[in-house]
Amino acid sequence: MKTVLTGIKPTGKVHLGNYSGAIKPALNLARDNKLEPIYFIADYHALTSVRDPEEMRELSYGIAATWLALGLDPSKSIFYRQSDVPEIFELSWILSCFSSKGLMNRAHAYKAAVDRNNEAGREPDEGVNIGLFTYPVLMASDILLFKSDLVPVGKDQIQHVEIARHLAEGFNKQYGETFSIPDYVVEEATAIIPGLDGRKMSKSYQNTIPLFEESTKLRKLLNRIKTDSSLPNEPKNPDDSVVFALYQEFASDKDIARMRERFENGIGWGEAKSELYHAMNLFLEEPRRKYNTYMSHTDELELVLEKGAEKARDKARPLLNEVKRKLGIRM
Ligand code: ADP
Ligand code: TRP
Repeated sequence: MKTVLTGIKPTGKVHLGNYSGAIKPALNLARDNKLEPIYFIADYHALTSVRDPEEMRELSYGIAATWLALGLDPSKSIFYRQSDVPEIFELSWILSCFSSKGLMNRAHAYKAAVDRNNEAGREPDEGVNIGLFTYPVLMASDILLFKSDLVPVGKDQIQHVEIARHLAEGFNKQYGETFSIPDYVVEEATAIIPGLDGRKMSKSYQNTIPLFEESTKLRKLLNRIKTDSSLPNEPKNPDDSVVFALYQEFASDKDIARMRERFENGIGWGEAKSELYHAMNLFLEEPRRKYNTYMSHTDELELVLEKGAEKARDKARPLLNEVKRKLGIRM
């Protein structure tokens, strides 16, 4: 059985882009009986930027509740919070002793921070903590500790999976076959979901639509989507419209085809947005209810995560012990 592993950082409220680009494809993989899903909340990765304890707690629970509300079955997967599995951090130290500093210098999150500082005329390393610098080592540890075969990620994370491969290959060469070599899975077919202003939906652009936004707020947000000034009866290009792009994520194939025709024949923006709202609300009503129930019963989330951490630790320990033996740290 192949292992599929991915993590999501609790750095913001889950938005429609995260759902379509990351969570939906991972949930589809989790339904494949030939794969063992290992999904987690990457809270220690978030610590490189999230410093408010209340925010950390809320966002971490938010990610957990999102997975469960959308149908991840914790009895058919290993579902945990990264910080509950100390073996990951032990391996992370070990791997950091095998990671050259030059490799980390080239990692894109660090490079981007340095570029921003240079452009602003600041010291290159200003505001860069060691956690951000060694971020790829912790991510390699997440991946390698569970002998992951497949790692579904967004395009921006490919380099990190490649670093994990590189570290695994180096270790295996020196100490014999130990780690599996992971492959990344990037859903080329997944569209980049546009945000309210038409740019890529992203926390960084503050143009997001939270996945579980309460329905009246959702309606208001959808009304804010930027549209052109064409009149209701003028034909509109569906492939050039944020409203249509979002509609496609939530409506049935039949309704999408109908909506395409209506765009081409001319539809008022107000009406198109109203149709979008109804399609989204229908699709999200049940998961939103579950999400809210979990968020007001975080003790239940804790129980699920606790059990998940136990499973994760049981799975991780043999490999960590093998690594330590090979290093002469244990008999
Ligand atoms: P953000 O850009 O809001 O900071 P993240 O970088 O935390 O989002 O993304 C988490 C996951 O969601 C990644 O796998 C990423 O590829 C996916 N994702 C984020 N925004 C979008 C989008 N607009 N369209 C499709 N996928 C997205
Ligand atoms: N770095 C990933 C992101 O920013 C999150 C992550 C942490 C992850 N560890 C992982 C993803 C291991 C896949 C596998 O989106």
